[in-house]
Amino acid sequence: MKLFNPAGRPGSTISYAGLLEKIEILRSTLRWSSKLDRADIEKLLRQFNALRDEVMQLSHKERFVQAASAEPAVPDLTPEDQTPGQRRRALLERSFVFEGTFGDNPKLLDALEVAEKAAPTDLPVLIDGESGTGKELMAKVIHANGSRADKPYISVNCGAIPDNLLESELFGHKKGAFTGAANDRKGKFESAHKGTIFLDEIGELPLPGQVKLLRVLQSHEIQRVGSDELISVDARIVAATNKNLRKLIAEGAFREDLFYRLSVIHVTLPALRERRDEIPLLIAYYGDEAAEALKRRPLKMTPRLRSFLLNYAYPGNIRELRNLMYRLSCLAGETADITHLPEDIRPKSVAPAASAAAGDGAVPASLSEAKRAASDEAERAFLERGLKEVGGTVAELARRCEMNRSHLQMLLKKHGIHSKDFRRQAAQREGGSASPGTEHGA
Ligand SMILES: Nc1ncnc2c1ncn2[C@@H]1O[C@H](COP(=O)(O)OP(=O)(O)OP(=O)(O)O)[C@@H](O)[C@H]1O
Ligand SMILES: [Mg+2]
Repeated sequence: MKLFNPAGRPGSTISYAGLLEKIEILRSTLRWSSKLDRADIEKLLRQFNALRDEVMQLSHKERFVQAASAEPAVPDLTPEDQTPGQRRRALLERSFVFEGTFGDNPKLLDALEVAEKAAPTDLPVLIDGESGTGKELMAKVIHANGSRADKPYISVNCGAIPDNLLESELFGHKKGAFTGAANDRKGKFESAHKGTIFLDEIGELPLPGQVKLLRVLQSHEIQRVGSDELISVDARIVAATNKNLRKLIAEGAFREDLFYRLSVIHVTLPALRERRDEIPLLIAYYGDEAAEALKRRPLKMTPRLRSFLLNYAYPGNIRELRNLMYRLSCLAGETADITHLPEDIRPKSVAPAASAAAGDGAVPASLSEAKRAASDEAERAFLERGLKEVGGTVAELARRCEMNRSHLQMLLKKHGIHSKDFRRQAAQREGGSASPGTEHGA
């Protein structure tokens, strides 16, 4: 069965949205088919799910390639001379493994370019950034792009280990070393031998633990608790923190020598509020992901919820946005509104959804944000009006507005607008039963 071959038709534009739509139709046809055995149906569904995941991944990659392809990258330009799209595409062309990291914010690209250079070396990397900015993801990116990619990646949350178990957790123990040590046990460092050890929340490591860690970094040897034997370990160190380690050093809570050992390469990840232009894409992406995980239809949103999500400050960064999309998908029925937001972030005096006007969610943090939100809303209204006029035919809309069709598809995806909804509405109108749609948020 020949399903999808992007290289097979040179010059043709692949419509991922179209492909996804076809797959969705096939999935629902198969789900309700009465002529197939249930076992066959399940098997086919599994195959289609896998195919859909692949297509979504490709679509994800393609968005950025498309954005960049308008201006081809010039190889000998320095990053400062390149547009974000060119920089992202250059990374793709160098076969950089993104591990699902997306966005082309210049600060994020700076971090990815540092990661690209650091990955093949064994130099220690310190990643800092606020909670939920993708530090753990970045550690995986560094591992995946290095020569140790097929070796173990061991993650340790330094803040979650009780003081009295720290040494045994990191370095292992010998049978009988302490009450409860019923067997010899390897520690995290030994498990990470030849691979990478990710020391998360390094700022939470108590001072005695810092001394022990420093010793390993200097000698590349560990001793299991209760044993005299020295064991060589070759683990690449990546550490992360959302604390200001220099401040901790000044307060005497973090060792300066350990800081310098860990931060040979230092990467700082931007907060989501520094890359607000990517919020619509993230909403669409995590809306799709949540729908898939919860086995629901993609979420529809009221305009005031969309406006809130575009303007909210996200102190918990990408993780908070992702969690919000899962919460909304889970709690809302067909359409999510700001009443489905957690109470602590919900705007005060929320009017019932039916009488709510667009845009009365959160107050934008700045004039430029207000302008961006207004421009987003205008873009969205333009697309919806256009699709309505052409009965949902994207190619026709592209022709009428003299726009590149793939660019138009990208804008529709960004706003979570589904052309098939407009085709359905047009068909209903022809049949005499038009029903006004709410927005598709993801
Ligand atoms: N650039 C990005 N693109 C896509 N997803 C991202 C990006 N950055 C972070 N995420 C997602 O956001 C969530 C939080 O990321 P991660 O756990 O790596 O953050 P963190 O900085 O380690 O957070 P914390 O400090 O709270 O431990 C994850 O679901 C991750 O996949
Ligand atoms: Mg983390």
